[in-house]
Amino acid sequence: MTKERGLPDVLVTQGGERIGTADDWREKRRPEIMDLFREHVYGREPVGRPASQTFHTAVTTDVMAGAAVRKQVEIRFEGAGGAGRIRLLLYLPSDRRGPSPVLLLLNNRGALAGDEPDAGDTPFWPADRIVARGYAAAVLDVEEVDPDFDDGFRNGVHGLFDRFEGEERPADAWATIAAWAWGAGRAMDYFESDPDIDASRVAVVGHSRGGKAALWAGAVDERFAFVVSNESGCTGAAISRGKRGETIRDINAQFPHWFSANYHAFAGREEELPVDQHMLVAAIAPRPVYVASATEDEWADPSAEFASLIHAAPVYRLYGYRGLQDAPFPDPDTPLFGERMGYHLRTGVHDLTVYDWDRFMDFADNGPFRNI
Ligand code: GCU
Repeated sequence: MTKERGLPDVLVTQGGERIGTADDWREKRRPEIMDLFREHVYGREPVGRPASQTFHTAVTTDVMAGAAVRKQVEIRFEGAGGAGRIRLLLYLPSDRRGPSPVLLLLNNRGALAGDEPDAGDTPFWPADRIVARGYAAAVLDVEEVDPDFDDGFRNGVHGLFDRFEGEERPADAWATIAAWAWGAGRAMDYFESDPDIDASRVAVVGHSRGGKAALWAGAVDERFAFVVSNESGCTGAAISRGKRGETIRDINAQFPHWFSANYHAFAGREEELPVDQHMLVAAIAPRPVYVASATEDEWADPSAEFASLIHAAPVYRLYGYRGLQDAPFPDPDTPLFGERMGYHLRTGVHDLTVYDWDRFMDFADNGPFRNI
């Protein structure tokens, strides 16, 4: 299949060396792939955990009719351009017997974590259902990290941390998807500080543009134990070469602020990119990854989303995990749970629904977060 789509071989270095062991993958090929994605696609983030970062938490017990404890966390930080904050809303099961594993949603659909905490019963973020299954449910609103519009990278965390004094913004500078992924990392910093959370079992979940950010967050920040992409499509899970629906040209025209300036040059030149999105999935290996699609989401191209799992599998196999093996593209509503890889194609339109969440948790229960 690699040949069919003309994909770059995930196991051959830029210098032509074939990778045959997990150690060589980690030392030689993975760093090179991460650098290629930073250079050509998502851009380079100028900062990791800010030295100035602090957490401020308000706790309310007995919410969700007693089923949950709510924590409202404000993550504060400063850069040369001023102060910023990201709010994190967290529901923990009241009956937990130890630190909870977490599903963190990078929310791209209106405010959930703001002044009026969500009741936790929307299909997009069914926190009550997540808590009932023994997970902590966490959410941050990506627009608190970086507003989702093109303002020349002045607002959000770009305005705080970018310092290109009098120079032009570099063509490989980070853009909005990378900023959102960076925000996920700051939530992870918080989880590591909270004894109620099992920081070794944190999943990052995102839908659509949030799913693109979740995959990049999982690649950049290896503290995430599990990565879930729901209908992330173009420059998310979907392979760009031969992709139907949205193309690199379309996405950069409509959302010029999502990716690095360098990425714009690949409009109509997908086959010249030294990476494709199966390599992003591979960068998450050997950690578990779940990709979900919907039948009517042709813009995202379900078969191209599925293909990235199949083409990332050789890297999982280096670690001894079979992935989805050579599973054919499945029928709707018949989830595939493989070793360290899951996939489903839900009947319906582009959305994040209770069906999707239930499958993510079924997969997590049986693999990444067993024995909760
Ligand atoms: C647009 C965009 C997609 C994106 C989607 C979403 O349709 O073209 O790339 O995934 O918005 O975020 O819902």
